[in-house]
Amino acid sequence: MRSMASSASSRGIVAIVGVGPKLGRCIARKFAHEGYTVAILARDLGRLSRFADEIAREEKAQVFAIRIDCSDSRSVREAFEGVLSLGFVEVLVYNAYQPVPWHPTSFTDIHIDSFQKSLAVSSIGAFLCAQQVIPGMVDRRKGTILFTGCSASLNGIAGYSELCCGKFALRALSQSLAREFQPLGVHVAHVIIDGVVGPPRAGTSGSQRSSVGEHQSGGGDGSMDPDAVAQTYWHLHIQDRAAWTQEIDLRPCPHRLF
Ligand SMILES: NC(=O)c1ccc[n+]([C@@H]2O[C@H](COP(=O)([O-])OP(=O)(O)OC[C@H]3O[C@@H](n4cnc5c(N)ncnc54)[C@H](OP(=O)(O)O)[C@@H]3O)[C@@H](O)[C@H]2O)c1
Repeated sequence: MRSMASSASSRGIVAIVGVGPKLGRCIARKFAHEGYTVAILARDLGRLSRFADEIAREEKAQVFAIRIDCSDSRSVREAFEGVLSLGFVEVLVYNAYQPVPWHPTSFTDIHIDSFQKSLAVSSIGAFLCAQQVIPGMVDRRKGTILFTGCSASLNGIAGYSELCCGKFALRALSQSLAREFQPLGVHVAHVIIDGVVGPPRAGTSGSQRSSVGEHQSGGGDGSMDPDAVAQTYWHLHIQDRAAWTQEIDLRPCPHRLF
């Protein structure tokens, strides 16, 4: 674990699993901006440490980079020993996925190892991470778990069975956890991103970022600004418990189907 602390925070821990240059990083930045201590997790610790350094500096927040391979139960357990040592995990965002080729793969060409890996990253990893944080959330009757889905969460797509099966299972996990734990004070929601996530519109510098609502449309290429998507994760977290969302879908304007 590498710490990039720059100031004390009195708020809970946000653990974001699956942090790369797009959505994961933007969600981390948003919660850091709102005053949370953030733990960012993925396999590439060198890149994560650069993200942690950048976000800590720009948002004056505490950001911890922790290595995890969420397809490996031992790695998840060890990583969460580090996360839980930071304090109570108030928010878990499960964002990891196994990328698939842009072009469809014929079903008979998909190797079982690749299929299993996709299930492990999209859904088994989510199961393992949720098990790490739910007991603490239930004890405090407080917490938010947000799972990232995509178009493949809802419909089987020819040539993308690996992605679809992993994301379908993630959606089922989200619904099951919501029904079991929302009565105990834990908000569980599934975010379906129905579009292509692009790079942040404002580059990587926090000082260049727009406020909520400033972007009135998607980018010229039809992709989604991950900072705009990250705003939705924040809004889900701060929803009044009298009116919690279980599932939400997001798409850019204009919408590009793929
Ligand atoms: N990109 C899109 O167009 C798009 C569209 C719809 C939905 N989504 C969803 O949005 C989410 C984020 O996608 P994104 O493209 O914006 O990626 P991102 O948040 O920039 O990065 C996700 C990161 O997950 C990490 N990861 C992959 N396998 C992992 C593993 N076994 N253990 C731990 N971490 C792992 C990877 O980092 P390491 O290599 O360092 O582990 C990757 O960079 C995904 O759930 C995806 O399904 C994306």
